[in-house]
Amino acid sequence: MSGTLKVVDHPLVQHKLTQLRRKETETRDFRRLVREIAMLLAYEATRDCSLTTVEIETPIQKMRARTLAGKELCLVSVLRAGNGILDGMLEILPAARVGHIGLYRDPQTLAAVEYYCKLPEDIAQRDVLVLDPMLATGHSAVAAIKRVKQAGASTIKFVCLLAAPEGVQEMQTHHADVPIFAAAQDSHLNDHGYIIPGLGDAGDRLFGTK
Ligand code: URA
Repeated sequence: MSGTLKVVDHPLVQHKLTQLRRKETETRDFRRLVREIAMLLAYEATRDCSLTTVEIETPIQKMRARTLAGKELCLVSVLRAGNGILDGMLEILPAARVGHIGLYRDPQTLAAVEYYCKLPEDIAQRDVLVLDPMLATGHSAVAAIKRVKQAGASTIKFVCLLAAPEGVQEMQTHHADVPIFAAAQDSHLNDHGYIIPGLGDAGDRLFGTK
């Protein structure tokens, strides 16, 4: 799978996303909904994980049963809003290693400026999921994925809640090998780089900072 946008249109994801978008949804519910959607997106983003069989013993008898094989996972949260998705993903992928990349958007140019980066030493041996709720201009996603590639990772997926066509295009230009998993693709960006209709500022809504 490469360079594609996969919209996860499962009814539970869509229902929860609608709740999330509502302007009256408060911080506590917003946080819970992001966590719940992240778990459902994790389900889809890990669908192609390879399996092997091991022999186990149930209380009744021995059997061969399926278990995960292949590379282990690393989740990389793009700070700060990526942490909302990270919390949900870790609930069902508790053994995953975690990296953080801090980026802010220059308000004038909308360029991504890095202020922090800490990645697991063995990231090159892991399958990586880069997490950021809003794929808007795509500048942060492109910069974060570039960092992860510099650290040696080669199997990378990007997971977000909402994708704008502009961000998807930017990803296809710079990282066509990285599939994108989103709960929805929205219409466009406004002049301030916000996704329309979107859900507002994901970081502020997650952390109650506005
Ligand atoms: N970041 C956000 O939090 N919201 C947007 O709409 C775009 C970028």
